[in-house]
Amino acid sequence: MGRAAGALLGKLCPGLQGASSHYTQHVHQLLVRHCSSGNYTGHEEKAMLDRIIRVDHAGEYGANRIYAGQMAVLGRSSVGPIIQHMWDQEKDHLQKFNELMVAHRVRPTVLLPFWNVAGFTLGAVTALLGKKGAMACTVAVEATISNHYNNQIRTLMERDPEKYRSLLEPLVSYQRTPSQKNGTTLKKFRDEELEHHDTGLEHDAELAPAYSILNNLIQAGCRAAVYLSERV
Ligand SMILES: [Fe+2]
Ligand SMILES: [Fe+2]
Repeated sequence: MGRAAGALLGKLCPGLQGASSHYTQHVHQLLVRHCSSGNYTGHEEKAMLDRIIRVDHAGEYGANRIYAGQMAVLGRSSVGPIIQHMWDQEKDHLQKFNELMVAHRVRPTVLLPFWNVAGFTLGAVTALLGKKGAMACTVAVEATISNHYNNQIRTLMERDPEKYRSLLEPLVSYQRTPSQKNGTTLKKFRDEELEHHDTGLEHDAELAPAYSILNNLIQAGCRAAVYLSERV
């Protein structure tokens, strides 16, 4: 575009022909810089919003499948109502991200069918270790998810609030009930994930067999799931 303008300038003003090469380069650089900066912000914001919604949706979907697996094994036990309560909150989280996906035309991760099976299996297998095993799984998963939400919140807050207003907008308007004021989507969900984490600890998660190995393995798996879901 800049080169064409320079060539045209050379034709129209032959006297400037000799000087046109440097000028053309300069114009070209300016145009490229201007055109890219004009579109870059919009693309960058949309890409970031897509990434956030996609990975959070995947996380909430996975969490739902984990609690479904736990309930399949421990639904009738004494911890059934506790797991059900956490699952109900996860259903609510997932519904919010389902709505955001539709509203912002964001596709889900291609790994969703895999998280479906992997999540249910993880929930059921740890529940087969007993109540403490299920709670150990909850502690590991919820620690990773709440940490992930914290990272997202920090990243967004570090950005220019004006520039990223449109990005923050859909994520700060969530209120589940009128009594839950001032809650943003990410902060509210982060708090509820922490609540689940603490519930797990209160119900003897740390007394599960091979707790620290289990905890490290599940957290590593969850971090890998987050990494992949952000990218595909
Ligand atoms: Fe959640
Ligand atoms: Fe949770």
